[in-house]
Order: sequence, then structure tokens, then C-alpha cells
Amino acid sequence: MPYPATPWTHCKTALKPKLTAMPIIHILPHTEYCPAGAQVRAAAGTTICEALLENGIAIEHACDMSCACTTCHVIVREGLTSLNEAEETEEDLLDRAWGLEPNSRLSCQAIVSNKDLVVEIPKYSINHAKENH
Ligand code: FES
Repeated sequence: MPYPATPWTHCKTALKPKLTAMPIIHILPHTEYCPAGAQVRAAAGTTICEALLENGIAIEHACDMSCACTTCHVIVREGLTSLNEAEETEEDLLDRAWGLEPNSRLSCQAIVSNKDLVVEIPKYSINHAKENH
């Protein structure tokens, strides 16, 4: 039996290049978290929230990334369609987020793929709004 033309398509490791991608997340300037903006590399398969925290950007994550708050809200300015789709629980929570926009995501639920992203952390979270306003 001859080998298929592309034998690696039968191998599960054929997916590996995608999983080992290290796209860049560009974070727009935020007065508290990164006044000059920042760029971080994120392994495909991690969430935006994990990538920011691993790189010293201490975005709020009050429910410990369990999709039960809105404090990790971000607005994805570029690359939104490369992320996994938001599930209903996330969509419901986002309705309560401060500064909701059509490109809003909960960063702890948004999984990075192999595309670079541009992300904005809103000026306030629900926590901030309650504390300061
Ligand atoms: S940290 Fe609570 S929903 Fe993301």
C-alpha cells in the first residue's frame, strides 16, 4: 500500500505547529496596568488573562478565572475572530461589564490561537466603579 501524499496529515502531531504558536498580544496603554502599553508573547491555548498575568500585567480576576465575574473584561481591538467563541455564560456576564463594546470578552475565557491580538483593558471594572464612583 503506497504512502499517502502527505503522511503527516494522519499523525496527531500534525497539529503541533498550531499549538506551539506564540502570537503577540499588544496591550494598549492603561494608566494603572501598563501606562506605556505592552507586548507579551502567549502560547496558543492559553487565555488572554493567563498571558497577561504571566507577564506581570496584573489584570483583575476576582473570581479566579472561573467565569463568574466581569473584572477581567477586555476589548479585543484586533484578532477577535481568531479567539474561541464566547459561551452563553460569558455573554450573560459581559452584559454587566463596565464599558461593554461589541468586541468585548472576558479575558479568562478568551483562548489565544495563532494570531496576534490588540487588546484594550477598560478604564474601569465593576470593582473599580463601585469603589471609586
Ligand atoms: S476572572 Fe472572573 S470572569 Fe474572568
